[in-house]
Amino acid sequence: MRELSIAKKVTTAVEDAEVLDPVVDRVRGIVNAVVQPRGLRDLLHGVPVGHAVHPITVMLPIGAWVSSAILDFLPGSERASRALVGAGIAGVLPSVATGLTDWSELHEQQQRVGLVHAASNTVATVLYAASFVQRGRGRQTSGRMLGLAGLAVVGFSGYLGGHLAYRQAAAVNHAEDVPHRFPTGWRHLGALEEFAHNEPTQRTVDGVPLLVVRSGAGVDVLANTCSHLSGPLDEGELVVADGERCVVCPWHKSVFSLSTGDVIHGPATAPQPKFESRVTDGSIEVMLEGAG
Ligand code: FES
Repeated sequence: MRELSIAKKVTTAVEDAEVLDPVVDRVRGIVNAVVQPRGLRDLLHGVPVGHAVHPITVMLPIGAWVSSAILDFLPGSERASRALVGAGIAGVLPSVATGLTDWSELHEQQQRVGLVHAASNTVATVLYAASFVQRGRGRQTSGRMLGLAGLAVVGFSGYLGGHLAYRQAAAVNHAEDVPHRFPTGWRHLGALEEFAHNEPTQRTVDGVPLLVVRSGAGVDVLANTCSHLSGPLDEGELVVADGERCVVCPWHKSVFSLSTGDVIHGPATAPQPKFESRVTDGSIEVMLEGAG
């Protein structure tokens, strides 16, 4: 079955809508100024749990509003339905905070889609707020209609959110394929003398780009493709963060430990695959645990 042309037209139009860029710039500036310090940004990205937390935070509003719509078709459920509408509205703030923080560090086409996704959610929340008020006044019919209209907008927004995650690969692990592509066992990397001290260098082994940083008689080796959005880590700078030698991605400044590949700071949430290395007679070999 082929992709519906209407769906393709809508998403392509939004991705290419340069007219949205001034609004994107303005909103991104506000988000970056408000969502501070960096520890809070890391939390909202989902660094402590190892992947984005936005999908978890949208469960309450969506779940509550869908449940409310079902109750609207059952007699005698007016109070429960209104309570669910209110619970969904109360649950909007965490999903806005996590979503906007992730969105603020995406590519421009992703940000255009994300902006329309966020605007749709705003419209849906306004519709549900009006629904809540109408239900409180005893105007059940208009309250239900406003709720159903809100749910339709949420559905459209969910479609764009799915496009953002699954088609445009926002907030997913861009280094997940590395253990599947890299062969098992020790692989030759090069001669130790080819690498300058503390200078991030890229080498490709069996088709997989690696970041190599020499430190004395040894090397640290990570996958070179940033897990956030595929930035080239060999173009980043070396820093010390949390007492560890780290590399900073040049694109959105994620910080990865050179010794473990762990995320020290987001927006990345998935670690960089860390390769074991050994030097024998001046020749470097690397191996990735679990590869193949
Ligand atoms: S590509 Fe975004 S932090 Fe690396």
